Amino acid sequence: MEYQFSRRVLELKPSAIREIFKYAADPQVISLSAGNPAPEAFPVREIAEISAGILAQRPIDALQYGTTEGYTPLRGHLAAYLKETSGIGSDGDDLIITSGAQQIMDLFTKSVVDEEDTIVCEAPSFLGALNTYRSYRAKLRGVPMESDGISLEGLEQALKEEKRVKFIYTIPNFQNPTGATMSLAKRHGMYELAKKYGVMILEDNPYGDLRFQGEDLPAIKSFDTEGIVLYSGTFSKVVAPGIRVGYAVGPKPILQKMIVCKQGEDVHTNIWGQMLCDELMTKYDFGAHLARLREVYRKKSKVAVDAMNRWLLPKITYLPIEGGLFFWCTLPNGIDMLEFVKRAIDHKVCVVPGNAFLTDESKPCQSFRINYTTPTDENLVRGIQLLGEVASDMIP
Ligand SMILES: Cc1ncc(COP(=O)(O)O)c(C=O)c1O
Repeated sequence: MEYQFSRRVLELKPSAIREIFKYAADPQVISLSAGNPAPEAFPVREIAEISAGILAQRPIDALQYGTTEGYTPLRGHLAAYLKETSGIGSDGDDLIITSGAQQIMDLFTKSVVDEEDTIVCEAPSFLGALNTYRSYRAKLRGVPMESDGISLEGLEQALKEEKRVKFIYTIPNFQNPTGATMSLAKRHGMYELAKKYGVMILEDNPYGDLRFQGEDLPAIKSFDTEGIVLYSGTFSKVVAPGIRVGYAVGPKPILQKMIVCKQGEDVHTNIWGQMLCDELMTKYDFGAHLARLREVYRKKSKVAVDAMNRWLLPKITYLPIEGGLFFWCTLPNGIDMLEFVKRAIDHKVCVVPGNAFLTDESKPCQSFRINYTTPTDENLVRGIQLLGEVASDMIP
């Protein structure tokens, strides 16, 4: 059989990260390539208690079909929590529950993007989102990232040059993959540019709660008076990604269309996971849980920083971070980054080549991404030491 694929998916390739996971699956290889939370951060005891309670007291609520918009108590509690803690949400907005934040990228794109419309993205950016946009045959326009977020000059140039921009996609806190956080001035600047050029912003914030240093910055959504920002949040990095619970706050007409699309995708997000998140937020001390996570990440990131200072500097530099899961490391000009990553795998350590995160993967890139949260401390240090050995071989 010669299989005929749709034009939408014909050019899609398996993600470079998934390909690299093949090597990472080798137990001999230390993987610094995942994007997973630290295993010790999962609230396993609480999840077991809540699950037993749900099954004992309200099994039918958890097992029956639910509404597409999401479990009503969770929607209410989350809306109040986001308003109170971050000033997110206004009268024109609503909140829906999704199957992870990944589904928000999909539902939003399906709702507003036609083939050949443009989505302006940070370059580099989250590969899962880029691949979703590609699957709708959107044109991706990358705008360079700087250490304090997207280049505003580059953004304005893109908005001027591209004729059919539907939205700007941004990850303002501890960006995947660079770890960079957008400055307050740039948050306002992006909002003003979006207003000026009449485009929406998709503000993707999976990592904001994982700040272990410095001050929280306001969400772009918190100054959205025009109804142009769709805010995306998730429990993946603060509870567990396996439960697949995310949430979107945005203008009601946009969310209504996304709900129609969601009905055709998965009907609703799994109810048990939603009840679990609701109880974690309301019956447990969620603030204390987040504080514990931040402490885990603060300690673990220090292990990574000490090892990078010892084994990578000055040949390989890295961008300092104040939260999130990733370090963005850069090789000197003239060193072949892909060759470096291949040699690292030969040395039994796996990182993600930076060009995988570009809107145009064929563009040159001197960087690679390290995840410090998934390996044990011992493997983290050993992995970084191995990268240092490759650097000694390749970099004069
Ligand atoms: C920037 C970014 N957005 C969204 C997601 C997807 O999160 P979820 O597990 O909630 O679908 C990820 C996951 O790694 C991410 O890094």
